[in-house]
Amino acid sequence: MSVTNQPAGQTSKNPLTSVEEWDDFVAARYKKGKSGEEFRNYAPDANPSVTEFYRQNHSYQTLEFVRQKRQQYLKFDHGKKGIWAAAEYLNTLIDDSDPDTDLSQVEHLLQTAEAIRRDGQPRWFVLVGFVHDLGKVLCLYGEPQWAVVGDTFPVGCAYSDQIVFPEFFAANPDSRVPELQTKYGIYEPNCGIENVLMSWGHDEYIYQVSKNYLPEPAQYMLRYHSFYAAHKHGAYRHLMNKRDEEMFNWVVKFNPYDLYSKGANRPNLRDIRPFYEDLVAEFFPPEIDW
Ligand SMILES: [Fe+2]
Ligand SMILES: [Fe+2]
Repeated sequence: MSVTNQPAGQTSKNPLTSVEEWDDFVAARYKKGKSGEEFRNYAPDANPSVTEFYRQNHSYQTLEFVRQKRQQYLKFDHGKKGIWAAAEYLNTLIDDSDPDTDLSQVEHLLQTAEAIRRDGQPRWFVLVGFVHDLGKVLCLYGEPQWAVVGDTFPVGCAYSDQIVFPEFFAANPDSRVPELQTKYGIYEPNCGIENVLMSWGHDEYIYQVSKNYLPEPAQYMLRYHSFYAAHKHGAYRHLMNKRDEEMFNWVVKFNPYDLYSKGANRPNLRDIRPFYEDLVAEFFPPEIDW
């Protein structure tokens, strides 16, 4: 089943040729060796479909939308599935781009995990690499791309100018609600990021689905891996508490593996599968609620 068959760059529900196009854009934005100032010069790297994607994301991710999606998905009534079954299910999200050069969803997960493993990180950290994008199954539930991927950001308070394409927030209905546009909005100073509603997407979903089985740093890595304004640019510290500050070091540690582990070598699933089967079984029951 493909939900990605959309002509690139057109005003469609899914402007990206695949959700990977967003990941590639972020990787280009933070290309190794780029200076801090150059991070902000993402426009030349942008392409029309990515721009249209962000226009939709920033326009439609309202506080109300987030509340509604949380109600819909945090009942976990989308079936029971093991981690492997979820990975195989995610792989049915077909990419329209060249199959010879583009990696399947599971290959990205394995490359991320293998890079973490090569660095001798703890087993739970390797597991984070393997599961971190499984929340993209939201696409297969019929969610539009703007509600699955994209840089995440808090809703219900002022938008940071450290968020990519901040100009697109002008079209978000929340931007015309003064109470939602103060520095703290509906939140208290340093209330803790767990009390802050983030734009809805694959980070929050995989965090919620897996949180009972993984240690706290893993939960932060999953939940905030697309929160670039915070983990790359230091924004929103005024909503974080001491614990968050500490835990965001882990989010920062995870990010390069996500961004830079794409290599020419395709992981050989047959060789590494036993390792990942054991790893998944060490932390997760045979099936979890999605
Ligand atoms: Fe992701
Ligand atoms: Fe990823």
